[in-house]
Amino acid sequence: MNHDVIEKSVPLLIVLTLLVVSVGGLVEIVPLFFQKSTTTPVEGVKPYDPVRLVGRDIYIREGCYNCHSQMIRPFRAETERYGHYSVAGESVYDHPFQWGSKRTGPDLARVGGRYSDVWHRAHLLNPRDVVPESNMPAFAWLDRPVKADDIQARMKALRVVGVPYTDAEIAASPEQIKGKTELDALIAYLQGLGTAIKNNN
Ligand code: HEC
Repeated sequence: MNHDVIEKSVPLLIVLTLLVVSVGGLVEIVPLFFQKSTTTPVEGVKPYDPVRLVGRDIYIREGCYNCHSQMIRPFRAETERYGHYSVAGESVYDHPFQWGSKRTGPDLARVGGRYSDVWHRAHLLNPRDVVPESNMPAFAWLDRPVKADDIQARMKALRVVGVPYTDAEIAASPEQIKGKTELDALIAYLQGLGTAIKNNN
């Protein structure tokens, strides 16, 4: 076909441009669904236990991701500050993943084990108690019992999308979150972040 025809007809140009971009996108994206490095968990990465799962849901509910990414880029400035860069196999059980690019606060991909539970508790209830210059909001209401009557349904839903929870784990889950506060669950979640790959700091 004479290229003039395409260049002179805007609708045709738009349609063909969209077609080219879609094909280009699909060729890049579709293989990722099948590559081992993106679909197999990194050694040591396990599905969230019920307490951490509840904590993760609280993290999402409270919008922590609006200020915190969980994705360390493979650049020196990042790895020196946060530790080993993030790899896809660490997030295979995350639905949805929490990578992000919005960093009002630091990246949290490897925050697990960096502070004590006591520090996190104080920090979440009022960040300025431990970091005087912090502008992170206080999450003072989190010191209340976990309400997760639907924990089994949450786990079953995750199983549908590929998280290998066993029937026994699902059956035992209400017992495990009994007596926990939202703070306990959130801190358990934070303390597990990024610990499968060893920190280098
Ligand atoms: C409005 C933005 C904002 C929101 C929302 C927010 N944070 Fe932060 N966060 C910050 C800032 C800024 C810092 C750095 C200062 C500090 O340590 O308090 C921080 C620091 C942290 C740290 C310490 C990280 C480190 O490596 O020192 C943790 C852990 C943390 N936030 C967890 C959370 C959790 C969990 C939530 C949701 C319940 C949350 N944040 C919500 C802004 C935010």
